[in-house]
Amino acid sequence: MCGIFGYCNYLVEKSRGEIMDTLVEGLERLEYRGYDSTGIAIDGDELDSTLIIKQIGKVSALKKEIAKVNPNRDVTFVSHCGIAHTRWATHGEPKQVNCHPQRSDPNNEFVIVHNGIITNFRELKTLLLNKGYKFESETDTECIAKLFKHLYDINYQNGHELDFHELTKLVLLEIEGSYGLLCRSSHYPNEVIATRKGSPLLIGVKSEKKLKVDFVDVEFPDESNLGRPETPLIAANGKAIHSDDNNITVTTNKKNPDAFLNGNGHSSGSHDDNLLPIAANEFNLRYSQSRAFLSEDGSPTPVEFFLSSDASSVIKHTKKVLFLEDDDIAHIYDGELHIHRSRREVGASMTRSIQTLEMELAQIMKGPYKHFMQKEIYEQPESTFNTMRGRIDFENNSINLGGLKAWLPAIRRARRIIMIACGTSYHSCLATRAIFEELSEIPVSVELASDFLDRKSPVFRDDICVFVSQSGETADTMLALNYTLERGALTVGIVNTVGSSISRATHCGVHINAGPEIGVASTKAYTSQYIALVMFALSLSDDRVSKLERREAIIQGLKLIPSQVKQVLKLEPKIKELCATKLADQKSLLILGRGYQFASALEGALKIKEISYMHSEGVLAGELKHGVLALVDENLPLIAFGTRDSLFPKVLSSIEQVTARKGHPIVICNENDEVWMEKAVNSNLETLEVPQTVDCLQGLLNIVPLQLMSYWLAVNKGIDVDFPRNLAKSVTVE
Ligand code: UD1
Ligand code: F6R
Repeated sequence: MCGIFGYCNYLVEKSRGEIMDTLVEGLERLEYRGYDSTGIAIDGDELDSTLIIKQIGKVSALKKEIAKVNPNRDVTFVSHCGIAHTRWATHGEPKQVNCHPQRSDPNNEFVIVHNGIITNFRELKTLLLNKGYKFESETDTECIAKLFKHLYDINYQNGHELDFHELTKLVLLEIEGSYGLLCRSSHYPNEVIATRKGSPLLIGVKSEKKLKVDFVDVEFPDESNLGRPETPLIAANGKAIHSDDNNITVTTNKKNPDAFLNGNGHSSGSHDDNLLPIAANEFNLRYSQSRAFLSEDGSPTPVEFFLSSDASSVIKHTKKVLFLEDDDIAHIYDGELHIHRSRREVGASMTRSIQTLEMELAQIMKGPYKHFMQKEIYEQPESTFNTMRGRIDFENNSINLGGLKAWLPAIRRARRIIMIACGTSYHSCLATRAIFEELSEIPVSVELASDFLDRKSPVFRDDICVFVSQSGETADTMLALNYTLERGALTVGIVNTVGSSISRATHCGVHINAGPEIGVASTKAYTSQYIALVMFALSLSDDRVSKLERREAIIQGLKLIPSQVKQVLKLEPKIKELCATKLADQKSLLILGRGYQFASALEGALKIKEISYMHSEGVLAGELKHGVLALVDENLPLIAFGTRDSLFPKVLSSIEQVTARKGHPIVICNENDEVWMEKAVNSNLETLEVPQTVDCLQGLLNIVPLQLMSYWLAVNKGIDVDFPRNLAKSVTVE
């Protein structure tokens, strides 16, 4: 995932060399998160100019680039604001122009580092292109930098020299999606803006003197008209933003930028019950000092600020940190930190506390988690949401996969679809094959890449070959891709890593946007691949009236998945206990599933094998009686998927075959399922209850207990979960 770091010194003299070293070291502390390129922006030699240095690859490559550019390290700055970034590509492959900081123009008037995704960047880009802006990168971030300049310029032309935070409010009115961002500008020397929505951002404060208070007041729009412009401000569409009294209070209703509040706090365009009327002067802090940074005698206090997306890069410098909340606009200038918001909301806090971090560095990198694998399992409510973000309209039950849209007519004409992948990625194909066939009415085959190549399987020009890969670099999958390209097939990628070989070589595809996966065992990539494939299948059928009801049910089911995954994660204590008791010291574990849950069984068994080194086998429940049943006795541990779908009676009968042979299965079932509740009492059977969803999505929830189980089995054996023996994260050899 991308990382942000910023450093501001005020009345603390620093050489440019020291400032660059602080920024680069801040980035090094973010390295563990995974990234593919880096960059910094600092003051240049000309007055109010900005110097940007960026490079693809690791921070070490950035250091070399800095040495090559060779800026004078000895120049000193009494006050300065520098910003830096590690990028994990989502928009545009890793190359120098796509690295952050991104800029508004060749003079670097506005320079931005950004984490997150701007979902309406295409619309913004079109608007800005029409205004004559020239884009140099493929990033969504560049449109934010250009938007800053555009709004600055048009307001300046209309006689407004806006505060940096007021300008930021106008920019945020226009952008949709998620962001954590820092902005510096030659128009606002030694100032920096930090703002966030759905992406973390915190500010570390370091000062010799004790802060007067350990909080910062939140500042709301000036209700008293003090210092208000006489003429209305201008929005990106060129329209005036104003109300009767010229209060520029902005609403968060981005779809309707003309909706605004009047001075009484009532909506003039639309009604918003969350807004409180604000008495004139009540919160008029705009021109007051931020109390925390006032010195006793009123003289300026030397102070340093460290801004970051992650406490790990700040803790070395200071343990005093303030966490920004969504929609906060932090404005740092003259040694003060101000927090602005566009409007007051009922019950919202009026201050942000400056907390003391008690954690040590290693703890912070993995948050409260012991391993990356555990962290990534717990990230799934967020990563599954991010896969769908900006792509599903839950109100209108429609899907928009930008990377596939133009290709859908060609894909619909295909005679067959071949899905090709390895390992966990192969399992995500198996998990979605049935719904793909049901919705698209095109036969789908699922292939292990190595076997597909070994067989030299015939491929035709009218075949659609779908390649699924977390890393986008797996050699077997890549070779299979080349093989199908040579035969003229249309190739589609379902890939996590933007700019990876598979993402670039395929004709089209979908980035799953799960964020970097660091633990060797694939967890959050599986659930995101699964969702991406379901969205693909839904897109293929959006012209079929006969599928309307089914599609709506699936889309509404997808909407609930992130919160349902969160619910499943609550099973951890029970799973942990099972791993320490019933499943401890076992040699083998069978996992039974059928229909949609066969893939869950295979994926669960793979997780258990690779992480805990315990033999485990995923068994198609219908095959039990054809051989595997011979293994079953009262000692063999067994897990069965017994969640409800049309195959439930058959699953029930398979599990009865097991209990009849004195087997004691652990059944993953739906919450409060009476059949299992009764069996749990009458037979020796344990249950792990998960919420119910649409049949074809149930595997998204059912896999989570097995991810947790593999994790705890391994931890109990003292295995280094993130680096299991003999395995590598990216298998780039055949
Ligand atoms: C884009 C944004 C996304 C945003 C959405 C909202 C990009 C990179 N992504 O998604 O963050 O939420 O708009 O409208 O702009 N591709 C391949 N092979 C692959 C994967 C992707 O060729 O394996 C291609 C796609 O065909 C597309 C491009 O890469 O041309 C970007 O794909 P993707 O990130 O999925 O873009 P969108 O779905 O358009
Ligand atoms: C298992 C695992 C592997 C990968 C496989 C394919 O946890 O991670 O089985 O799924 O090596 O890798 P990608 O998805 O990167 O092509």
